[in-house]
Amino acid sequence: MDLLLLLTSALLCSCGPVNTESVFQIASVTLSIEPRAAVRRNTNVTLRCQASVISLAQLNREYTLYKDNSVIYNKNTSSKEDFLYHLPEARVSNNGRYKCMVRIMGQEMTSKSEKLTVTGMSPPILHADKSRTTEGEGVTVRCLAPGETGSFFFYFYDNSSEIHDEHRNTNQAEIKLPLSDIGAHMIHCIYKVFIMSESVTSDESNTVIVTVEELSIKPFLEISPVNNIYEGDNLTIKCSILGFNQSHKGMNLLLNQGTNLLSVGNATAAIEYNMMVEATAPTLSFDCRLTVKNLIKVDTKTIRVTELFSVPQLIMSPPEVFQMKPMTLICKSQHVALERVNKEDLTYSLDPAEHFLTPNGAGIFSGRALKNEFNYTCIAEAKGIRKRSGTLTINPKVPVSVPSIRVADWPILGESFRIFCQSSKGSGPITYSFWKGKTQMGTPIIKSFGQPAYISVVINDVKEINLFTCKANNGGEEEQQSAALDTAVIEPITNPILTVIPDPVEGNDLYLICSVQGTPPVTFRWFRHDKETPLKVTTSLSNNSNYQITGLSKEYSGMYYCEADNRANFKVQSDLVDVEVRMALWKKALIGGVLLLVASLLIMVSCVLYYKHRRVTLSSAVDSVWSERKPEADIDEEFSTVSIEPEVEYTEVVHPRSADPDRAPQKKGTETVYTELQNSPHGAVDHHDYGSVKYAELNGEQPETSQYHAGVDDYSDLPVPVD
Ligand SMILES: *[C@@H]1O[C@H](CO)[C@@H](O)[C@H](O)[C@H]1NC(C)=O
Ligand SMILES: *[C@@H]1O[C@H](CO)[C@@H](O)[C@H](O)[C@H]1NC(C)=O
Ligand SMILES: *[C@@H]1O[C@H](CO)[C@@H](O)[C@H](O)[C@H]1NC(C)=O
Ligand SMILES: *[C@@H]1O[C@H](CO)[C@@H](O)[C@H](O)[C@H]1NC(C)=O
Ligand SMILES: *[C@@H]1O[C@H](CO)[C@@H](O)[C@H](O)[C@H]1NC(C)=O
Ligand SMILES: *[C@@H]1O[C@H](CO)[C@@H](O)[C@H](O)[C@H]1NC(C)=O
Ligand SMILES: *[C@@H]1O[C@H](CO)[C@@H](O)[C@H](O)[C@H]1NC(C)=O
Ligand SMILES: *[C@@H]1O[C@H](CO)[C@@H](O)[C@H](O)[C@H]1NC(C)=O
Repeated sequence: MDLLLLLTSALLCSCGPVNTESVFQIASVTLSIEPRAAVRRNTNVTLRCQASVISLAQLNREYTLYKDNSVIYNKNTSSKEDFLYHLPEARVSNNGRYKCMVRIMGQEMTSKSEKLTVTGMSPPILHADKSRTTEGEGVTVRCLAPGETGSFFFYFYDNSSEIHDEHRNTNQAEIKLPLSDIGAHMIHCIYKVFIMSESVTSDESNTVIVTVEELSIKPFLEISPVNNIYEGDNLTIKCSILGFNQSHKGMNLLLNQGTNLLSVGNATAAIEYNMMVEATAPTLSFDCRLTVKNLIKVDTKTIRVTELFSVPQLIMSPPEVFQMKPMTLICKSQHVALERVNKEDLTYSLDPAEHFLTPNGAGIFSGRALKNEFNYTCIAEAKGIRKRSGTLTINPKVPVSVPSIRVADWPILGESFRIFCQSSKGSGPITYSFWKGKTQMGTPIIKSFGQPAYISVVINDVKEINLFTCKANNGGEEEQQSAALDTAVIEPITNPILTVIPDPVEGNDLYLICSVQGTPPVTFRWFRHDKETPLKVTTSLSNNSNYQITGLSKEYSGMYYCEADNRANFKVQSDLVDVEVRMALWKKALIGGVLLLVASLLIMVSCVLYYKHRRVTLSSAVDSVWSERKPEADIDEEFSTVSIEPEVEYTEVVHPRSADPDRAPQKKGTETVYTELQNSPHGAVDHHDYGSVKYAELNGEQPETSQYHAGVDDYSDLPVPVD
């Protein structure tokens, strides 16, 4: 209707003559399969393409036919008739989807696609060129797919096993089958037709029986002798052709031992081969091969070979040897075929010749071991056969050297430490044992060369350290013993004592001496009881040290203690010492003097009064009173001496040291002094009374003056003499 409208309007509106030929429209295109879409093989199939075109004129139509999207036909026609495409006697190969396209003056339309399915394939036909053949000859067979079209695969079967396949674009395939096995062969074939990615398989073909007959000729292998073959025997081997007939040509013979080719021959010249047997294996296998065209026929024979003597073995006795020590090598074949070879005929020798050993009976070689590694082999020989042993590498052992004994770190009394023992020379394995005096410690330890052995021990007395020794042994004649262990032992710090000298008096200096038992260097720390931080920290190479307070005053009164430790890392603390700073002596003296004066005055006054009272009766008693009182001057002197009393004390003790020309540094001297002081009966305990009591003793011993002078001499030795 639209077209009619279009045509009408085109006719009405045009002002000139209208080209009606150019006005058309393709209404529809359909493809149909006749007689049916699914047909049996051999049906005459027609594809009908029907195009309905609306136009006023006869237009040229271009038909294109597609099978599975590929163009299979193209035709131009001006006829309005349907376009027909014939598939006479349809085959499976015609299967596919068809469609048809119509194009008119650039306008085109395509039909829906239709699927054609053809079922049934013709059975293949197999043909063989002969039904009897000889081995190696083969047979030519042909497989035919009668009346089929398309792309083919042909498959050939021998007794239902597929033996060959072949691709062809024609409906037959001819091939040559070798058929090597003798006997009947049931041969058939099938084919497949490929349509796009699918394939359709045919039925089986007829079966053709081909009989393969054995070839009349064959190789023949003969070995003599057959039995009792010993190595060294001469073998004769013949490889020839049996049933040979002049009609056979192009044959050749090969004689092999395993994969070794020994000889070649042919139909006119059979092989005869001589060889001496070597017992490389207990059995030897030979084969004689005949090649005729494609066929190879083989005759194989195996012989047993007995060894005349076995490969010798080389051993050393004893199994280990030290450098330059005696040793014996023994070379021997375990098995000897005495029925063929005399013991005397079997000789042994060493290789290389310069082995420095002398033969000492059959296969026995004696001498001394070398210093270095040496490789020995031996050779057994009889009846011209030589056999070589494996290599015996002798690496003479190095005797163990005297081991050294040591400790890894400072041993600490009462704590576990390790003692090491190692020899600098000697082949491993080395057995080490540790001894403390005559007692063995633990079980022996086995180490390879270069590795030290060690044990862990604990000692509780310094002297024990020198009891330790170790022994090393690597299987030689003697074991080696180390020297005694010689090392310092660290004694942990014990028995700390804080000594305070001199009597703590205002204005004087005070020394807090901390002394301990234990191994130096010792780290000392002084503390005042009420303070956390140490007053002083020092490390001393001696076992005591001091802390000095100069210019004492009342504020220094308090409780003091010291701490000490050393490498044993065990801190100890002294008892608390109470330091009470007392009034200066001159103050006391002053007070004392005044008191005495007052007392004297009182006495004088009372005496005067008394005297007045009893002037006559008591005259002799007055004399004695004055003789007692005479030391009044002594008292004064005593007080003044007391004030320098600490210096006097130092002098007394330091003196012997100052005589030493290699005098130790100042500090050291002082420490020595204190130590001596500590040992005196006046310890820190009675230090309150110390000054006066000590003074009294000293006074009794020596004249004050000489003491005082000595004090001046040694004053420089004392720490910081500040007044
Ligand atoms: C198919 O057509 C051929 C001629 O093209 C004719 O000989 C044959 O008989 C027809 N087959 C059938 C089944 O009609
Ligand atoms: C049909 O005609 C078209 C255009 O006129 C041309 O291209 C094509 O080759 C022709 N086909 C045949 C089969 O003649
Ligand atoms: C094939 O089959 C036949 C009959 O079964 C048999 O005699 C023959 O030995 C077979 N041949 C082979 C090569 O297997
Ligand atoms: C083998 O043959 C060689 C010479 O060919 C001969 O010297 C040798 O003695 C023979 N050996 C034996 C065991 O007969
Ligand atoms: C030689 O061989 C052929 C085929 O193998 C045989 O036909 C012929 O009889 C043989 N001739 C003799 C003399 O054996
Ligand atoms: C066979 O071998 C011999 C020697 O190798 C040679 O002279 C002869 O020509 C060969 N014969 C054939 C038929 O090959
Ligand atoms: C001994 O033989 C071994 C190999 O078997 C070799 O590595 C070594 O170097 C040889 N020693 C001497 C001293 O020749
Ligand atoms: C500490 O020194 C004194 C005197 O020098 C000495 O008698 C004492 O044995 C020493 N103590 C230790 C543990 O060394």
